[in-house]
Amino acid sequence: MAKTAIEAKNLIKVYGSGPQRVEVLQGASFKIAAGEKVAIVGASGVGKTTLLHILGTLDRPDQGQVFHFGVDVFSLSDRELSRFRNQKLGFVFQFHHLLPEFNTLENTMLPALIAGKSVKEARKMAEEILERVGLSHRLNHRIGELSGGERQRVAIARALVLNPPVLLADEPTGNLDVKTAQEIVKLFLRINQTYATTLVVVTHNPELATQMDRVFGLSAGKIIELSKDEPWPWNKPSKE
Ligand SMILES: Nc1ncnc2c1ncn2[C@@H]1O[C@H](COP(=O)(O)OP(=O)(O)OP(=O)(O)O)[C@@H](O)[C@H]1O
Ligand SMILES: [Mg+2]
Repeated sequence: MAKTAIEAKNLIKVYGSGPQRVEVLQGASFKIAAGEKVAIVGASGVGKTTLLHILGTLDRPDQGQVFHFGVDVFSLSDRELSRFRNQKLGFVFQFHHLLPEFNTLENTMLPALIAGKSVKEARKMAEEILERVGLSHRLNHRIGELSGGERQRVAIARALVLNPPVLLADEPTGNLDVKTAQEIVKLFLRINQTYATTLVVVTHNPELATQMDRVFGLSAGKIIELSKDEPWPWNKPSKE
């Protein structure tokens, strides 16, 4: 059996208090195997980004644990955790968070420079991954000079430049036209096949979700595994 890449145990996360209180996660638990591709789906505001941020150690749960390849990540010191995040996780944000003052190449080199690679080495690694995502002809464009799909691909290249074992992506096809979205889907499948990267993708896009090995639904703070063949509960037409 494949190793477990990610295990979430009984995650609880609450925002605010009193009338502002939002119980986002209420005991979410699941395991994802190394090399597996998983989609997380659910209605807007249900807590998908919150969950992904916790899996990516960008936020902490109020209770519960997250293990990456057996390591209880929230027991690490801040310094160890930053290092872990840099080297073992790629994160593609819902609103990509690229640095607008910098160009494609510089944005992609950044994680490699943070990891202590020389400029020359970081540049080589960035050029390689940018070629894989089809952006070799846009290396010196600033982020503001790129199309939406190109920006999304820079965000993916930046997340992958250190070839992390795990890639977490939040709505990677959001705001893209159908054709560009399909290209991003193909890119994810190729990355997973080439490097056996474990993929966890939050998406509203059924085409992307059904290409994954399993689909997790987040509902009422818990994770339930969904069948890929039936309409998801919140997408069923109402009976009125
Ligand atoms: N920092 C915060 N403080 C208070 N409430 C928050 C905070 N962040 C998120 N929330 C609330 O928690 C809930 C879950 O938010 P989250 O961003 O995880 O949803 P989502 O499932 O990613 O939604 P979408 O599909 O719209 O991106 C929402 O109701 C949101 O308003
Ligand atoms: Mg979100």
